[in-house]
Amino acid sequence: MFNKLLEDIKISIKKSENIEEIEKIRIQYLGKKGILSNHMKKLKFLDVDKKKECSIILNHIKNKIIIIINQKKIFLKEKLLNQRILNEKIDISLPGRRIENGFLHPITHTINDIKHFFYQLGFTTIYGPEIEDEYHNFDALNIDKNHPARDSHDTFWFDSNRLLRTQTSSMQIRAMNQDHPPMRLLVPGKVYRNDYDITHTPMFHQIEGLIVDKNINFSHLKWIIYHFLYYFFDKNISIRFRPSYFPFTVLSAEVDVIDQNGVILEILGCGIVHPKVLQNVNIDSNVYSACAFGLGIERMTMIRYGISDIRSFFENDMRFLAQFKYI
Ligand code: DAH
Repeated sequence: MFNKLLEDIKISIKKSENIEEIEKIRIQYLGKKGILSNHMKKLKFLDVDKKKECSIILNHIKNKIIIIINQKKIFLKEKLLNQRILNEKIDISLPGRRIENGFLHPITHTINDIKHFFYQLGFTTIYGPEIEDEYHNFDALNIDKNHPARDSHDTFWFDSNRLLRTQTSSMQIRAMNQDHPPMRLLVPGKVYRNDYDITHTPMFHQIEGLIVDKNINFSHLKWIIYHFLYYFFDKNISIRFRPSYFPFTVLSAEVDVIDQNGVILEILGCGIVHPKVLQNVNIDSNVYSACAFGLGIERMTMIRYGISDIRSFFENDMRFLAQFKYI
């Protein structure tokens, strides 16, 4: 009778063609309520010797079934895999998918380059808020309410006090309020003005430089600016200091760069910090003096690489940006 059982199982396993069918057979024979368990349960009605004999046979059959089932499972899995390999052919002649490495935006490059120069002179970098208040952006910088300089800034106001900073010069005030001289600072960052054309975007970048110390005078400023511009533009340019006006500096200048074709480009504003500004931050202008400068990062980058439209920096056109991959 048990021989017949084993034969039946062998036949049905042989016939089965997938893992699900095998699983059904396993449950049918080896499951809790399966055929083999039923036989086991009946053993208790037999006498001791018979019981022992039958249980050995049943266990033997059980082990056999497990072996047969596992063998068939392995066979079916291999078959499945082979079929898949046959169906899913890999075309090794197809070109691979390239993983593009990221690279720095040209504006970031310029900022890093400028930092590199000024770090050698002992400057440190600080950052400040882009949402400013009227006091730091205008009042403390000696630009009072009716001052015409305010109009030229085309400010984005949130309310009567808060605004998007129009210049990194606001950080001169914050820095001098927080720290004591001597100090040499760089403040890179975004500034905002309501303007949009080939040379203006509503958001652009500046770097503010500030030195506060005893006996700082215009020759320090001039020396630094000259060396910096020669470093940045590789001496292919001439430099012109032009007298100018900023409410927060007295001795104010703008610096023009004249390129090889004789084209004149205004590149930065600078000057000796106005004593009133030092007073506003409780620095004694009889002991200390300060010089400052503010550079337009986009302008510098445009001149360096011959870019004609400032808007191209912010349009995320990879054909433009990718040109700066290896600089
Ligand atoms: N903040 C000025 C602007 O945005 C630039 C500037 C001029 C900064 C003179 C300075 C400075 O630090 O001394 O037009």
